[in-house]
Amino acid sequence: MPATDITELGSQVRSLPPAEVLQWAQDRYGDRVAIASSLGPEDQVLLHMAASIEPGPRVFTLDTGRLFPETYDVIRESVERYGMPIEVMFPDTSDVEEMVRAHGVDLFRDSVAARKLCCDVRKVRPLKRALADMDAWITGLRAGQSPTREALEVLSWDETNGLLRIAPLASWTEEDVWTYIRAHDVPVSALHARGFRSIGCAPCTRATFPGEDVRDGRWWWESPEHKECGLHACGAKEAHDASEGAS
Ligand code: ADX
Ligand code: SF4
Repeated sequence: MPATDITELGSQVRSLPPAEVLQWAQDRYGDRVAIASSLGPEDQVLLHMAASIEPGPRVFTLDTGRLFPETYDVIRESVERYGMPIEVMFPDTSDVEEMVRAHGVDLFRDSVAARKLCCDVRKVRPLKRALADMDAWITGLRAGQSPTREALEVLSWDETNGLLRIAPLASWTEEDVWTYIRAHDVPVSALHARGFRSIGCAPCTRATFPGEDVRDGRWWWESPEHKECGLHACGAKEAHDASEGAS
């Protein structure tokens, strides 16, 4: 989509409340848009809002095979509460087997390249499959989450995947998210009560300490500029480099 069209579309939706952005996306794209949910707080806010839309947007999650048990609890509780199906995408079996045979089960501890290979196999490739029949995807990204996300707009062109990326909560703060969760009793992971703020795979996530940033518990052994798993920042070239670098 040309940059001018994104700017034009963006000016239509930028000032809408997130629930109306979701409605706009559903009206415009129907079955060709979906919410990508990690079952994190932002995604749970979007799910709660989407539950009032009829018919609601599709929702999918990427099950890397290394998630916390508490994340599966949130999937089950959300399906029960909202009655909306959550499509679960898995990594390709032979990709995982080949990677583990070559680099071991916990390769992400060995190097940034090995960690990015694991994220590529377990998250990025399944994401590409999930997005194959989409014109747009909806994420819970916020500009305030990290320096790599600070320029985030509600609408942006996802160059890597070749479709529109919609971030209805782009301008929300972490406090906005939790105020909404408390006001609507939105189901969230039990790990948040134990100091976890941003939750991904179990071996790559820890609780944060007072004074740390929201994503300091993710890949905490790496420097901040590496802390993206490839869903949002890395292009195909970086994923390829990751695969080469780990071999
Ligand atoms: S990550 O790239 O570092 O893992 P983060 O956990 O901040 O991302 O989540 C940002 C957004 O990416 C989420 O709001 C969600 O839209 C999407 N996302 C992250 N992990 C997943 C997942 N496992 N399944 C589906 N979407 C995900
Ligand atoms: Fe692998 Fe960790 Fe990435 Fe999960 S977050 S896919 S376990 S490297």
